[in-house]
Amino acid sequence: MSAKLTIAIDGPAGSGKSTVARRVAAMLGYVYLDSGAMYRAVALKALERKIPLGNDTRLAQLARETHIELKAPTAEQEAAGFKNRVVLDGREVTAEIRTGEVAQAASRLATIAGVREVLVAEQQKCGAGGGVVMEGRDIGTVVFPRAELKIFLEASAEIRAQRRWMEHQEKGETFSIEQVLEEVRDRDRRDRERKVSPLVRAADAVLVDNTAMGIEETARLIVMLAREKEVTKQ
Ligand code: DC
Repeated sequence: MSAKLTIAIDGPAGSGKSTVARRVAAMLGYVYLDSGAMYRAVALKALERKIPLGNDTRLAQLARETHIELKAPTAEQEAAGFKNRVVLDGREVTAEIRTGEVAQAASRLATIAGVREVLVAEQQKCGAGGGVVMEGRDIGTVVFPRAELKIFLEASAEIRAQRRWMEHQEKGETFSIEQVLEEVRDRDRRDRERKVSPLVRAADAVLVDNTAMGIEETARLIVMLAREKEVTKQ
């Protein structure tokens, strides 16, 4: 039996993080945890309760009063493209948190230090036992600074916009590629320039640029790196 690691995967929107992280976890027999789903779940609750998104104090309090569970998806959820099952205060919200409105609200909530503090502590608890692949923006820098393997996933803004555009096409949504590229650049700026836990590559993270690589290839490369680390951890 090899020793199980904690693997942190960070990167900008559209870098293929979720799909790659889920695939790596499946290949290694690890648990996959999507930290962004937690920000989205608190955002959904805030929207439902009509809490103003400018009220940092109330939003931090809301995060403290919220219970979020991340579980493995059911076979139907997996087939529909969901990678984690998300339970908010005992209620299934897996599909509900995937709307544009919730994504926007989550990105605002993610700038509040009091909210991050609560969710980071929860994430640390979820991954405490090792054998996990957690993806997000600050996993290698803040949540698991001592993770044995840290990956910073990159891809050019153009290719990330193209991937997003194809997802929209599959859902029957018609946006121009220029529109999607502008959104990708906007989100990059917000994620990288925010004051608390901005998206930065940890000094000891392996930079994987998958502009010219497929998901499977990227996942296999990360699994190879993980296997090497598993052996040295034994
Ligand atoms: O990965 P995602 O799009 O589901 O994340 C939703 C929002 O939460 C996104 O705006 C970035 C933010 N986030 C974060 O700040 N830190 C994380 N570890 C994960 C997500």
